Amino acid sequence: MRIGIVGAGFIGRAVAQIALAAGHEVMLSNSRGPQTMSSVLAGITGITGCQIGTAEQATQFADVVLLAIPYEHIPSLQPAWFEGKTVLDANNYYPDRDGHIAALDTFQSTTSRLLAEHLRGATVVKVFNAILAADLLTDGRPHDSTERRALPIAADDAQAKALVAGLLDDLGFDAVDAGGLDESWRFERAKPAYCASLDKSGLARALVAAEREVELPLGSWRR
Ligand SMILES: NC(=O)c1ccc[n+]([C@@H]2O[C@H](COP(=O)([O-])OP(=O)(O)OC[C@H]3O[C@@H](n4cnc5c(N)ncnc54)[C@H](OP(=O)(O)O)[C@@H]3O)[C@@H](O)[C@H]2O)c1
Repeated sequence: MRIGIVGAGFIGRAVAQIALAAGHEVMLSNSRGPQTMSSVLAGITGITGCQIGTAEQATQFADVVLLAIPYEHIPSLQPAWFEGKTVLDANNYYPDRDGHIAALDTFQSTTSRLLAEHLRGATVVKVFNAILAADLLTDGRPHDSTERRALPIAADDAQAKALVAGLLDDLGFDAVDAGGLDESWRFERAKPAYCASLDKSGLARALVAAEREVELPLGSWRR
């Protein structure tokens, strides 16, 4: 699969590393342009063979686009670049970092729903937001392993969700279907499933245990 990544930070680079290791083609991009990428990638292991480009080039290269940027920058994305693409939404909303967004502060919408409203021609799948980048590099296991870590996914499109579940399997993770984009709050920041290392059944329980307006203390998910 050709994976175009918009955002070459912690999460974009980690997904690039494990996707390359699994035999996928990857193009990484950031906001400042490919000329800045050699210093961004310096010292990162397993990145040989990674292509670099502009954000527009990464979207055009891609069968699936991973979007991994601070949430505040989402309004600056050009919707035309994402037209017809499956977009993996790894983004989280941190008001202290991103500024306040009323629809999220009042639990009226979800990060992925707002993204889908901005990228109207794209099919959005929420995934990779609920695992620390460092854990992506260490926690993947082969398909038949016991105690394999599971990651939550949500999307309105069943075909896109199946595609992403297959990709996760390739990368060493099980997938647990949390429903459509309107249900994706169940694994947003500060919910029990957020960045928790759980297998399929544990993750399914954590998703059910989530309460819409109840948030865990900030940072309690970091070890
Ligand atoms: N870090 C984690 O463990 C983790 C885990 C799960 C989810 N997430 C979520 O994933 C997102 C990214 O987190 P991160 O920690 O990877 O961030 P980060 O290390 O700060 O990197 C952000 C990246 O986004 C790029 N970027 C910003 N605006 C852009 C735009 N308009 N077009 C293209 N690229 C743009 C930046 O490029 P420049 O440097 O050139 O500006 C940079 O490469 C956040 O929403 C975060 O909450 C993070």
